[in-house]
Amino acid sequence: MTGVAATGAALAGALALVGCGGSGAPGSSGAVLSVGASYMPQPVTADMAAGFLTITNKGDTKDELTSVTSDAAGEITMHETAGGAMQEVGSFEVPAHGQLVFKSGGNHLMFEKLKRRPEQGDTITLRLKFAESGPLTVEMPVRSATYNPSTGH
Ligand code: CU
Repeated sequence: MTGVAATGAALAGALALVGCGGSGAPGSSGAVLSVGASYMPQPVTADMAAGFLTITNKGDTKDELTSVTSDAAGEITMHETAGGAMQEVGSFEVPAHGQLVFKSGGNHLMFEKLKRRPEQGDTITLRLKFAESGPLTVEMPVRSATYNPSTGH
């Protein structure tokens, strides 16, 4: 009898919002980060895709998003859009009691070297790393190519 049950993908998705960095400054709560509004518009090809999300910091200390990785893409870079041109940025600040917003026409994540073309209905698992806080895992849904919550375009 083989009693090996497939315990598969029963990840509870528990949000480990641990803002304690150990022996930090007394009285400081540190950064308290959460992620919302994430999505990837279905890309035209497997060469490149964009991704958007919002990171909220309810803590009283700023933090910094330093890298984004995923098994779905060989490389993910962070871009900002300034004066209509985009440029790669090494890190983004997440202000205390504030938000870091990635949205169409502004800051965005750029996925390259994709394993395959993401399609509407897929979910891309991302790992966000920060200068101070522990990493966060994000399940980013792939939406239609024209999905755009901010402009409705
Ligand atoms: Cu870009």
